Amino acid sequence: MKSIFLIGFMGSGKTSVSKALANILHINVIDTDELLEKTYETTISDIFAEKGEDVFRKYETSILKQAPTANTIVSTGGGIVEREENIDWLINNGSVVYLETGWETIVTRLKEDTTRPIWNNAGRDKQKLLEERDLKYKRTADVIVQTDGKSPDMIASEILGVLNL
Ligand code: S3P
Repeated sequence: MKSIFLIGFMGSGKTSVSKALANILHINVIDTDELLEKTYETTISDIFAEKGEDVFRKYETSILKQAPTANTIVSTGGGIVEREENIDWLINNGSVVYLETGWETIVTRLKEDTTRPIWNNAGRDKQKLLEERDLKYKRTADVIVQTDGKSPDMIASEILGVLNL
C-alpha cells in the first residue's frame, strides 16, 4: 500500500485523523512536524524565531522526502504545499488526502493555540492564507474530505471508503 499523506490547514485535524487511520489499518503513523523537531533537536517556534520561515521550509522539505512511501500514515504541516517541489513529491509518492475545513471550524479549534508561529503572527492574514492554500491542497490531493462537524473516526472511515488501497 502506498503511504497516505494527510494535508490541510492548521487545525484541520490531520494529527487526530492520522491516528484514527493508523488504528484502523494497524500501520505506523508519523508526523512531519514531530520528526522535524526530533531531527533538528529544537522546536518549530524556535526555528521560526531564530532562523525564519525559509529555513523551516527547507527543513520541512528534507523531512518530507525522507518519509516512508509505503504502509505509513503521514500527517504533514499545514504549509507543506508552500513549495512546488513538495507538491510534486507528494503527487508522485503517496495517496494524498486533503482535509478540507472551513474557516469558522479552524478558528474554534485553534482559539487557545500558542504553539503555531504563523497562526499567532498578528501580521499575517490567516483567512487569506487558507484561501490561497486551498487551491494548492486541491491540486495536490487524490481525495478531498470535508471535516466540519465530523469526528476523526468518521473522517477516517470516509477516507478509507474512497481511497483505492
Ligand atoms: C504551519 C503549520 C504547522 C507547522 C508550522 C507551520 C503552516 O503544522 O508545520 O507551524 O505554515 O501552516 P500544523 O498544520 O500541524 O499546525
